[in-house]
Amino acid sequence: MYVSLWAINLVCTLLLLPPSLLAAWSVARGSRQAVARHTRRNARLTLGALFVAGLLILLQGVTSALFLAYGRAFALPHLLVSFPPLLLTALVVVLLTLPRLWELARSPALEGQAHGDTMRHGAKPPALVVPVYGLPVAALVGAYTSIVPPTPTAAALLLTLWALAIVTLWWWHRRCWRADSRGGVAAGRVSRPGSQRLAVILSLVLALASALWFGQRASVLPPRTNMAAAMSADMTTAMLSHSGGIAVPALVGPVLDGPVRKFTLTADESALRLASGATVDAWAFNGSLPGPELRVVQGDTVEVTLLNHLAVGTTIHWHGVDVPNAMDGVAGVTQDAVPPGGQFVYRFRVDQAGTFWYHSHQEANEQVHRGLFGALVVLPRDTVEADDDLAIVAHTWGHTDRGPRFALGSADLLDRRAIRPGATVRLRLVNTDDDLRRFALSGTPFRLAAIDGTDLNAPDEVRDLTIAVPAGAKYDLTFTMPDGTVALTVADAPEAGLLLSVNGDGVPPTSASGPDLDITRYGHSAPTAIVPDSHFDRRYVLDLSQQPGFYDGRFGLLSTVNGQTFPQSPMLMVREGDLVKLTFHNAGFMDHPMHLHGHHWLVLSRDGQVPSGSPLWLDTIDVAPGETWEVAFRADNPGIWMDHCHTLWHAAGGMMLDIGYEGVTTPFDVGDGSGNHPD
Ligand code: C2O
Ligand code: CU
Repeated sequence: MYVSLWAINLVCTLLLLPPSLLAAWSVARGSRQAVARHTRRNARLTLGALFVAGLLILLQGVTSALFLAYGRAFALPHLLVSFPPLLLTALVVVLLTLPRLWELARSPALEGQAHGDTMRHGAKPPALVVPVYGLPVAALVGAYTSIVPPTPTAAALLLTLWALAIVTLWWWHRRCWRADSRGGVAAGRVSRPGSQRLAVILSLVLALASALWFGQRASVLPPRTNMAAAMSADMTTAMLSHSGGIAVPALVGPVLDGPVRKFTLTADESALRLASGATVDAWAFNGSLPGPELRVVQGDTVEVTLLNHLAVGTTIHWHGVDVPNAMDGVAGVTQDAVPPGGQFVYRFRVDQAGTFWYHSHQEANEQVHRGLFGALVVLPRDTVEADDDLAIVAHTWGHTDRGPRFALGSADLLDRRAIRPGATVRLRLVNTDDDLRRFALSGTPFRLAAIDGTDLNAPDEVRDLTIAVPAGAKYDLTFTMPDGTVALTVADAPEAGLLLSVNGDGVPPTSASGPDLDITRYGHSAPTAIVPDSHFDRRYVLDLSQQPGFYDGRFGLLSTVNGQTFPQSPMLMVREGDLVKLTFHNAGFMDHPMHLHGHHWLVLSRDGQVPSGSPLWLDTIDVAPGETWEVAFRADNPGIWMDHCHTLWHAAGGMMLDIGYEGVTTPFDVGDGSGNHPD
C-alpha cells in the first residue's frame, strides 16, 4: 500500500517534466511568431500542456497529503519541499498566464496586432512566459527531492535556489520586454540573446558537471576512520573528562568460570556441494556448508579459535548474543580483521538460551554470501529440551555452477527426516539471507516459541499462518509430531523444504498460504522493565532511506540513516545505565531489517500501536516501507556497538551506524588504509 502510494507520487512527479517542458517550449515559440494563426496554435498547445501538467500537479498534491496517513515524518518532505514550488507556480500560471493565453488562443488577430511588433523582436511579456518557464523548474525540484530525500539544510538550499532562479528569470524577461517596448536598436542588443542563451545553457551544464565531479571526489572515504574519534566534538570532551576512559579490547567481560566449550573454526576457500550436487565456490568454516552448528548449554563459556586460511581478512560476529564488546567480532570497531594465516580467540559466557548465529563481520556483504556463517544454539540449562531439536539455516547460495540455489542448511532439495509421532519438535529458523523469508509449516498446529533468542510469553497454538522471518532474524517453532507428515516450505523456493514423517516418506501436505502471523499481536502480555512511558535518558530518531548517489567514489544506490552513510553517520552516544529509545522511520521503498549488536531492544510500538501480545525483546526489527517502529534498550553493556541494516548490501551501501558508550575508545580504524571493512 505504502509502496504504491510512494510509486504513484514519484511517477506523477516525473511525468510532470514532459508537459511542463512542452508548455515552456511552446509559449516561448508562440510569442516569437508574427503570424497570428501560428500564435493561436501555439497558445492552444501551451494550454493543452498546462492542462495535463495541472492534472499531474493535482495528483501529486493529493498523494503528498495521503502520506499523512503514515505520519508526519512521511508527509512533511512532500508537503514542505516537493509540492510548494509546484503549487505556487501553478497558482501564478492560473492568475497571470492563463487569461493571456486564453485571449491569444481565441482572438489571435487582436493579440497579433497588439503584440505584433514585440513578437517579431522576440521579447515576451514576463507575466505570459515566466510562470510557464517556472513550471519545469519546479518540476525538477519536485523530482529531485522525491528521488533524493533532502535533509532540512538541503531542502532550505534547494528552495532558495528555486526562488533565485524564478526571480532571475523574471528580472531578465522584464528587462528584455522593457527594452523591446522602447523599441529600436537598444532592444535589438538586449533581446537578441542567442549567444546569451547558449552561455546560460553552457554554464548550467558546467555547474552540473562540476557538482557531480565534486560529489564523486567528496564521497571517497578516508583511508582510515576511527569510529570513537568520529564522535561529535562535545562528546569527545565528555569522553575525555570521563575519568580514565576505556578501550574496546579491555571490555572482555567478567572472569569466566564454569564449563568451557572449545571449538576451532577454520575459514578457507573450497568448492563444496549442496544436496542437489550443485557446486558452491564457497568461503566456509571447516569446509562445511553452512559452518558447523555450535551447540552449547546456557552458562557455558564458549571458546572459539578462528584460524584464517583465506587470502583476505575475516572475523566472527555472534549475532544476537550479547557478548562483551571485545568479543563482538566487528572489523575496525572491536578488533582488526584477522589477517590471512592469523588467528583470534573469542571467549565469552552464554547466559541467554536460544537460537543465534555467527558470521563474518569483515566485508560481510561478500563473506556471508559466500558461506562464512553457521548456527549457534544455546540450550536452556534447566528446562527440558525438545525430543528433536533442529536448527534450520536458510540461505541463498549465489556462487554456484547452477545459478543461485536456496537451501535449508545444505539441502537445496526436499530434505526428508524421520521423526517419531508424539515427539516434541523444535525448529530453529535462521534467516541468513538479505531479504525477509516467508516460511509455512503445514500438517500440524504449532507455536512460535521464541524470537531472536528470547522465549515469547504464552504463545498460542496456530495453524495455516505463514511465518515471515526478517533478514538476520531467528524464529523458533515448536509442535508435537502428529501421525501424518509435516512440511516446512519457503515462499518462492519451491525446490527446497523439510519433510518430517515417521520414516521420512510421504508427500508434503499442501502448505499454508497465510496470512502472516503478526508478532505484535501474538502470545500474551506480561510486565516489562521498560514501558512506552518510561523516562528515557536518550531518544534518537533514525530516518532510513535510499537514494542514488556516490559512495566511496562509486555511483549507486546509497542506503542512508538521517541522510548519511557509514562511517560519516553520527555515533549515537549513550552513558552506561541509560534507558535509550530509538525511533525508526522508513519512508523508502525497501525493507530495512535493523539489527543492534550487544543488546536486545524491547518493541514499544509499531506504527503507534503498542504490541498487544507477548513482550518482544528482539535484536532485529524489520522496518517495512511506511512503517515507524519505536524500540528501547537499557545501555548495560559498555562498548561501541553496530546498529545496521541486515540486508547486507544496504549495510555495504552505507546503512550502518554505531552506538557508543561515553568513555569508550577504540584503537581500531575502518577504511582501506586499515584493511578493516565491517560491511
Ligand atoms: Cu548479523 Cu552486524 O550482524
Ligand atoms: Cu536496508
